Amino acid sequence: MTSTSLIERLNESLSSRLGIHFHPDQFGELEKSLVDAARELGLNDTDELKTLFLGDSLKPEAVTVLIGHLTVGETMFFREKKTLKALEEKVFPELIASKSRGVRSLRIWSAACCTGEEPYTIAMMLDRLLPEPKKWDVSILGTDINAGFLKYAKKGVYRDWAFRGVPKEIQDRYFTQTPDGRHEISERIRNKVRFSKLNLADAIYPAESNNTNAIDLILCRNVFIYFKEKTQRQVVAKFKDCLNTDGWLAVGLTETASQIYDGFTRERGSSPAIYKKSSSPITPRKKTTKQKTRIRPESKKKEKTASEMALLAKNLKDEGKLDEALTWCLKAGETEKLEPGHRFLEGEIHLEAGRTEEAESAFRKTLFLDNDIILAHFLLGNLHLESGETVKAKRSFEYVLDLLRQQDSKTEIPFSDGLSAGQLSKTVKGLLGKENAA
Ligand SMILES: C[S@@+](CC[C@H](N)C(=O)[O-])C[C@H]1O[C@@H](n2cnc3c(N)ncnc32)[C@H](O)[C@@H]1O
Repeated sequence: MTSTSLIERLNESLSSRLGIHFHPDQFGELEKSLVDAARELGLNDTDELKTLFLGDSLKPEAVTVLIGHLTVGETMFFREKKTLKALEEKVFPELIASKSRGVRSLRIWSAACCTGEEPYTIAMMLDRLLPEPKKWDVSILGTDINAGFLKYAKKGVYRDWAFRGVPKEIQDRYFTQTPDGRHEISERIRNKVRFSKLNLADAIYPAESNNTNAIDLILCRNVFIYFKEKTQRQVVAKFKDCLNTDGWLAVGLTETASQIYDGFTRERGSSPAIYKKSSSPITPRKKTTKQKTRIRPESKKKEKTASEMALLAKNLKDEGKLDEALTWCLKAGETEKLEPGHRFLEGEIHLEAGRTEEAESAFRKTLFLDNDIILAHFLLGNLHLESGETVKAKRSFEYVLDLLRQQDSKTEIPFSDGLSAGQLSKTVKGLLGKENAA
């Protein structure tokens, strides 16, 4: 048997047993991960590892080591703020209001929680949001396929890197410093989250035995990048059964181009990665009086600089005030005509407003000013894909991959919300794989 066919068989087996799937053009990456895993496991070579896995003869601890080398354990507290804002302003208020009329319980599941930052973030958010928290029965479940990550999560001790972009007051409120300079989560928050191992590709859910039934909100972010479309669809269908009527699903910001969310309605506006289990269309988000603006248009200051205007535009966009956001963004662009960031923001505003042609034009202008803005190429690719222009989509995604090859996989992508080059590369390869297969 040639080593190519062995790797193909391994890939199929990884996909069916762990959900983790590699496209043939990622076999180089797969092989590299296998070399590292075989070395850590003290095996002779990767063929031995492949054969052991195929024969189902790897011990569970060894499988954990393998999984650790095949997936990226990248995460952080308060990741993808756009989605968290939507949870804070739309999802949680709706859930809290409807539950306040009956049994005051909330059940949340962070599926693929990695080292715990995601479920702990939700616990911290609810700590601030719940009225009379003592009267509520809140259950937050964090699951992952990687037992090593879960062990880390249960300890609840984190390095500075997990807090990129997190306000210091949050750290001060919920963490204490350990003697070696790390940060330990408060017992109160830690006790709100339960962790357990669950492989999304082969576990049975919903099930009372693993606490995945009657859920109000599932977060499954930045995981579908590992799965084949078929697996993604199966997982989404099972999630639907896990959710209560009017339950919610949050996915990663780059995971919305796929058409896998049958039985869910996508939230439009400023929360593009949120789906509701419902067949009825979602009405546009109403602006609540609670929302705060950090810089107000009617600010006394006479003249704003272009970057102040752009910041104001971004804040307004995040609040869902898209018309005002566009006005300030265009003003910023008028003042600083050669700044690609203003054009990019304009594209994002149009995108959120559902004006795809205008969004495309703005992303093109962005790239005219700086052809290396990776996210602009990626979003253009998504727009082409959604409009069925597969050749153009392929061209954009291939260009993204060219640019990503020049980056370290841990580098954060400019204008993204904590997305790493490695993760974006995986997403794009997934989309290209499907595209090529079409
Ligand atoms: C990039 S992290 C995402 C963490 C977090 N959800 C976030 O968005 O920050 C991907 C996680 O998916 C997990 N994972 C991969 N395949 C899985 C599977 N079949 N079942 C459960 N978790 C899986 C990995 O172990 C890893 O922790």
